[in-house]
Amino acid sequence: MDKLIISGGGPISGEIRISGSKNSALPILASTLLTKTPMCIGNLPHLNDVTTMLALLRSMGLSVTLNEKMRVEVDANTIKEYTAPYDLVKTMRASILVLGPMLARFGEANVSFPGGCAIGSRPVDIHLRGLEAMGAIIDVDEGYIRAKCDGKLKGAHFFMDIVTVGGTENLLMAAVLAEGKTVLENAAREPEIVDLANCLCAMGAKIEGIGTDTLVIEGVDELTGCQYDVMPDRIETGTYLVAAAATRGQIKLKDTRADILESVLLKLEAAGAHITSGEDWVALDMKGKRPKAVSLKTAPYPAFPTDMQAQFTAMNAVAEGVGTVIETIFENRLIQIHELNRMGADIKLEGNTAIITGVDRLKAAPVMATDLRASASLVIAALVADGDTIVDRIYHIDRGYECIEEKMQQLGANIKRVPS
Ligand code: EPZ
Repeated sequence: MDKLIISGGGPISGEIRISGSKNSALPILASTLLTKTPMCIGNLPHLNDVTTMLALLRSMGLSVTLNEKMRVEVDANTIKEYTAPYDLVKTMRASILVLGPMLARFGEANVSFPGGCAIGSRPVDIHLRGLEAMGAIIDVDEGYIRAKCDGKLKGAHFFMDIVTVGGTENLLMAAVLAEGKTVLENAAREPEIVDLANCLCAMGAKIEGIGTDTLVIEGVDELTGCQYDVMPDRIETGTYLVAAAATRGQIKLKDTRADILESVLLKLEAAGAHITSGEDWVALDMKGKRPKAVSLKTAPYPAFPTDMQAQFTAMNAVAEGVGTVIETIFENRLIQIHELNRMGADIKLEGNTAIITGVDRLKAAPVMATDLRASASLVIAALVADGDTIVDRIYHIDRGYECIEEKMQQLGANIKRVPS
């Protein structure tokens, strides 16, 4: 497994391009199962999770080709298998997103039951209950979800007990080809869901309430392929902004937007950052100043995103003052605290709350990544630590950050990847 060696130093500054959104690309790639004619998707990030999703679609027999403009063309008509196998699902739990579209289009789907991961148990009960409400017959057998429906799924009025991004995406993709009207209440409102809904509408789906917590879908007989570019990655955007804030630098991020991460930008301004933005860029300037500690509580969009929590704990670790971070979405998503404390941070953990007292500088140490965003927090911490930090198990990072060392080097960071 590769490692990253990062020598702590001065501010990171400069300009980089933001990649397409991982969490928009994955459901949109799954939605290619729905169309009668090929889909062409652009702005896909070159990430392990995207590669895994493409491998999953190929393993089911879909034809997946890369065209000359690095856009992916997917044709679901060549499908042979209605099964998402264990060896692929175990590497990426977002594989569950093929369940809804496969069932809606082909009336059958067998998906290996996604296990939990480092941040939590991550059940899919709401996905399954919603599909059953639409007439699916679902069994769990030998670790597989086996779903069938007689004829087409039927529209249903379904209230989601918990706001779930994946659950909303799966049920939305199931509803677009169901017979009649579906109402999804208490739906998640993340920008990636808006992106998916816009893509489905471009295929000919009829969806109202996009961006709200109530989605109303009128099922149609069939959907046709379209050209669609996924939105910018708001979490990659936020991660580099926090890295610049923690290192007292200044940064300009291109091919991204400010309106998809307002709660993050407000917290960065509270930390003393000067934020400016345009139609397709966001910039941050700390004017050389140490960040001030901020307190935050994660919650569904548009509140502060759980995927940005770990990065802010790293910034708070070297900020002026005391900040508290409360994680309300996942039961075990403060695990990075222990590794940060090994680097000299002063963080106390009380249940789902981290109380972080900023120190001037951290100290380099060998640390281990445990999940995608915790890994990003360790990279940020290493940038403000004295000495060379070795971050191990960086396959977590490669799942969600395209070319992280090249982008960081472009920003002046002293970072290299070494095979272990
Ligand atoms: C998506 O995961 C994202 N992944 C996650 O990003 C993100 O952290 C999460 O949404 C929350 O914003 C992708 O989009 C691929 P949820 P998802 O269903 O859909 C509970 C990253 O770092 N729940 O919204 O799996 C669940 O346990 C990743 O890019 C149920 O109880 O998250 C959790 O506590 C990590 N039953 C809460 O809901 C269900 O059926 C939110 O989970 C479904 C979810």
